[in-house]
Amino acid sequence: MKRISIAIDGPAAAGKSTVAKKLAEKLSYLYIDTGAMYRALTYLALQNGIDVHDEQALLKLLRDTYIELKPSEKGQLVFVNGEDVTNVIRGEAVTNHVSFVAKHPLVREEMVARQQALGANGGVVMDGRDIGTHVLPHAEVKIFLKASVEERARRRHAENIARGFASDFETLKEEIARRDQIDSERQVAPLTKAEDAVEIDTTSLTIDDVVCEIMKIVNERI
Ligand code: C5P
Repeated sequence: MKRISIAIDGPAAAGKSTVAKKLAEKLSYLYIDTGAMYRALTYLALQNGIDVHDEQALLKLLRDTYIELKPSEKGQLVFVNGEDVTNVIRGEAVTNHVSFVAKHPLVREEMVARQQALGANGGVVMDGRDIGTHVLPHAEVKIFLKASVEERARRRHAENIARGFASDFETLKEEIARRDQIDSERQVAPLTKAEDAVEIDTTSLTIDDVVCEIMKIVNERI
């Protein structure tokens, strides 16, 4: 059976990573959460007092940084230079700065090269904002997931509480809308649906519904 590439894009908290993880599990494919890579760099920048608007400093930091995504039973673990940052990169400080880090063209160039190397052999489910448009433009399956801001904030709120993070629904709604705006309006590789992507509105669907819909598309192409 052909081992294809599956690109999953969409705005913040649209369910991309949950869906991508399930798909990867079903297909025994590699799951790559590209948002975690931008979050890992943001975490390190904040730790080192590097300005998230300083492109050259961020690029230098990234070039000296080894980011690892390791599959585990609990999902994907994220390591930066050997440190397990899986949980801390989901916190408020990183979430509120990551879109500024991800705006820089040179940072994106380096990240995209790493992501393309990880996905070079196919058999991969990759999620992010620019996977179908820039990272894997030849992916056999491209999906664009969307959902209303209210629904996305509701899901993220529940997730935060389950992780033991403090969480306020209204603040989350504002943060998600702000992040979408920065990600959609940036000059390089903005958040946008690839022309050949299938759009799925997940607002009133369960995770399993979405996975099932995508699996139908995948089965036609393997
Ligand atoms: O997917 P997640 O919400 O963890 O992504 C965090 C941020 O990383 C996004 O808001 C966006 O600014 C950036 N990102 C990106 N391109 C990707 C994945 C994430 O710019 N492919």
